[in-house]
Amino acid sequence: MSLSDFIDIHTHILPGIDDGPQNLEESAALARCYTDMGITQVIATSHYIPGTAWAASSQLILEKIAELQGYLQRNSIPLAIFPGMEIAYHKKLQEHLETQTFLPLGTSFHYLLEPSFTDSAEALFHCLDQLLEQGRKIILAHPERIPGLREMRNPIDQLVRQGLKIQINTGSLLGKFGAESKHVGLQFIESNCVHYLASDAHGVNSRRPPTGEEWSQLGIILGIDVLEQLCCINPAQLLAEKE
Ligand SMILES: [Fe+2]
Repeated sequence: MSLSDFIDIHTHILPGIDDGPQNLEESAALARCYTDMGITQVIATSHYIPGTAWAASSQLILEKIAELQGYLQRNSIPLAIFPGMEIAYHKKLQEHLETQTFLPLGTSFHYLLEPSFTDSAEALFHCLDQLLEQGRKIILAHPERIPGLREMRNPIDQLVRQGLKIQINTGSLLGKFGAESKHVGLQFIESNCVHYLASDAHGVNSRRPPTGEEWSQLGIILGIDVLEQLCCINPAQLLAEKE
């Protein structure tokens, strides 16, 4: 396994669109974090939080990707950026999925869904149950970070059996979000209900992609086979999926 096989499916790399980089230079600096490691493919997952300033349209996201991709090419930074968004769970999510255009990850069928830090877990589970029943493909972002979900292993296991996929943050396993997120993230992985490990990077400073040393730590924590499955094999299959 080489770092060149890693594909980050959750990163806030687009400029001036959410709490990630605020301009092209900052986006390029984050892109260099990847290419310096040999990583060449990421999925841009800007926040979509309705009713806030972080709710860019699919069209704007595609325009930002094209703008950044051109800037990276002119600056010889060989990072391919695939479209996506991190859709915040909200009470009208199901209705909005019917009536609005959201970007799935790459050309796949899968939407990345961010659980709420404040809404009840029951409301989320009910919504996920309905969406999965309808045949929607959902990847739940970083449940290990959400206090209301950490004790909800049985309902989450049930949803995984129904087809839900789970993405854990690298920062959680590295202890950057506290001991509880790390503990719960490892529990999820040990119970084989995690499909993806991704950085959820927001820039080059406090929430940056793992360094080489940190990737080595993750290999020790998880074992190389698990790391390869969650960061290389499963993301590659996702990018190969066609709508
Ligand atoms: Fe995120």
